[in-house]
Amino acid sequence: MQQLELIVRRTRLEGHEGLFDIGVAEGRSVRIAEHIETEAENELDAEGRLASPAFVEPHIHLDKVGVRPLLPPNASGTLAEAIELMHRTKRVATAEQVAERAGQAIRQAVLAGTTTIRTHVDVDTVGGLTPLKGVLHARLEHADICDIQIVAFPQEGIERQPGTREAMRAAMQAGADVVGGMPHWERDRDAARRHIDFCLDLAVEHDADVDMHIDESDDPDSRTLELLIDATEARGWGSRVTASHCCAMAAWDDSYAAEIIGRAAEVDINVIVNPCTNLLLQGRMDSEPRRRGIPRVKELLAAGVRMGCGQDCVNDAFYPFGVPDQLQVALILAHAAQLSTPEEIAIALQMVRSQAAQILRISNYGLHEGALADLMILDAERMEDALRFQAVRRWVLHGGEIVAETHHEQTLHHR
Ligand code: FE2
Repeated sequence: MQQLELIVRRTRLEGHEGLFDIGVAEGRSVRIAEHIETEAENELDAEGRLASPAFVEPHIHLDKVGVRPLLPPNASGTLAEAIELMHRTKRVATAEQVAERAGQAIRQAVLAGTTTIRTHVDVDTVGGLTPLKGVLHARLEHADICDIQIVAFPQEGIERQPGTREAMRAAMQAGADVVGGMPHWERDRDAARRHIDFCLDLAVEHDADVDMHIDESDDPDSRTLELLIDATEARGWGSRVTASHCCAMAAWDDSYAAEIIGRAAEVDINVIVNPCTNLLLQGRMDSEPRRRGIPRVKELLAAGVRMGCGQDCVNDAFYPFGVPDQLQVALILAHAAQLSTPEEIAIALQMVRSQAAQILRISNYGLHEGALADLMILDAERMEDALRFQAVRRWVLHGGEIVAETHHEQTLHHR
């Protein structure tokens, strides 16, 4: 029998009664049984706590985290003012400063049970490749505790900002993994179409996935998801393409929304919701009733669209709060999208675990024999309780190694 390097004893598994041992070797959960007879050099006693596959963070901006103290407040609270404000730090930040701030967020994410992150990083002529260099450095420094995919993100537009095409090509050469985009930021629909075509062609050239900021707007005429679907279909890029944000979907009329959601499912593209930031940024100009500014989560799920959920922003001009904690993000998603039945709550939790893992194309994700040993042991017996109580992540494993542990003690003193 294979020599086990680590055994996590007496864990609970979702959907199963009783307690189980998980035996880990060569980065995998190789044996899961009620009792593993053999011993390992390293053993943890979960004492009945729940084991779960680690969280996946499919959408964050690590190049921007933590800059809020350096900026004036975003008085309008809008996306446009945030982008403008962020130029101040983007123009002057060094790669070392970016790496330091990104590193802090990565470590917080791992402590909270996330071991795979997809981060967007601005690529334009304001900051050049400095944000990318900073995040590449942070990725290298944290390679032992977390896997990081980097999206080259033309936040300022491509047509709107001459020189960005060259910067995007250079970013893909320099180590970005995924091609980003922001077509609704262009001046008109033709420019948005050219933006999408350029990004898709660049992705095909590099055999890369695509993850674009799509229709992050309240404008019902913001309809670039349709263009992304056309371009994806034309190139057969299907499940390798993700539409993030998709806020304008909330403002579309029902029949147009149904048509586009149906096409998104047919073409097999993914959608990522970012409820924390978008609940705060969108609908700012609305009187009541105020739109929530998130995509139509239940309709997308009913159509069979694969969906993930991300933190997006942490303590920057877009969003003054936030910790990269996917258990908190899932709770906010459940409120924003009104996911409240047991089945819906389970889906909210899949959107920060298995569905996000599928979008990031993590192979062998999960908690079964042979799966990656990227796991967390939560201080709860059931996942729904973990969500409700925002349970402590007692241990976090990445590639079969313990990469984080948290001790938490509370005491009541009766008089
Ligand atoms: Fe974003």
